[in-house]
Amino acid sequence: MQGPLPESPSDDAAHVPVLIHAILKECAPISGVWLDGTLGAGGYARAFLDAGAARVIGVDRDPLALDMAKGWAAPYGDRLSLVQGTFSDLDTLAGKALDGVVLDLGVSSMQLDQATRGFSFMRDGPLDMRMSQSGPSAADLVNTAEESVLADVLYHYGEERASRRIAHAIVAARALEPITTTLRLAEIVSKCLPRPKPGQSHPATRSFQAIRIAVNTEFAELAEGLAAAERALKPGGLLAVVTFHSLEDRIVKRFLQLASGLESNANRYAPARADTAARFDLVTRKAVAPDEAEVARNPRARSAKLRVGRRTALPAMTISAADLGLPEIRQKGRR
Ligand SMILES: C[S@@+](CC[C@H](N)C(=O)[O-])C[C@H]1O[C@@H](n2cnc3c(N)ncnc32)[C@H](O)[C@@H]1O
Repeated sequence: MQGPLPESPSDDAAHVPVLIHAILKECAPISGVWLDGTLGAGGYARAFLDAGAARVIGVDRDPLALDMAKGWAAPYGDRLSLVQGTFSDLDTLAGKALDGVVLDLGVSSMQLDQATRGFSFMRDGPLDMRMSQSGPSAADLVNTAEESVLADVLYHYGEERASRRIAHAIVAARALEPITTTLRLAEIVSKCLPRPKPGQSHPATRSFQAIRIAVNTEFAELAEGLAAAERALKPGGLLAVVTFHSLEDRIVKRFLQLASGLESNANRYAPARADTAARFDLVTRKAVAPDEAEVARNPRARSAKLRVGRRTALPAMTISAADLGLPEIRQKGRR
């Protein structure tokens, strides 16, 4: 099983758009109106504009990405519009049929490298992890969630086998004093796990990934974003998605398989689906991974996978979260 993405100790990778050459190749020729649902530092948006898109709508839930765009957007004039929002709403945000949608999932290097955002177990900062800089933070989750919920989050969103032990240690630690910083959480997690051997990832990698996914409701966002893209794309329009760990890739793979009529639903107890007609055709039969040169240049690209589908003319449908294989975790007071 592919592991979670390690944190890179260097800033070199900061503005290298992952798999961009592969995306442009699979989506060629680039034309019409594209929506980049994960603007970040704008690497994809710029590449699409430079490659021939008439317009790009750049969406990010993080106000920082929109602020940063002021520094590079001017030369593109009204070919680029910037919107703060989530890609689960991308059809509403676009307001018109699209020629392409591109999603580059997860956190940006900018977010990871800023200690004050609280995403990193390598830099001390407030236990925050909110991409949108609003709503409940990682500290809220870690200090208030029931032990069983914490364990489920760690297990289902981080594939952490020591989930119950870590959840128990978190609850014991917070009974003494609230857990408010990244390094304090990393220390609690690390004490529950064997010391890593050289070359192994930091013991807190899986737990930080899991908590970040929960705080930002990343899987629900992804399922809703894929459905919104299906509604927004013109016949012939392209959907390109880059994932960074196996849990995300599984959701995208299942979505494209079901929407292209290649697989019956995931729930073997449910009646067979009648809707096997394709709403997407697969452009990439298998996921595209970065080559060795790209991984050498940008270690954060190591686990990236690209999948591309082309919309057909059939009406959009919604695939249930269960059929996409989304783990269901009941969190009090959260959707
Ligand atoms: C990996 S970075 C994208 C990097 C970008 N492709 C580039 O070349 O600079 C992911 C970005 O997507 C944003 N993001 C993640 N989930 C989102 C969502 N559901 N809706 C909107 N933006 C999201 C994050 O805030 C982050 O800025």
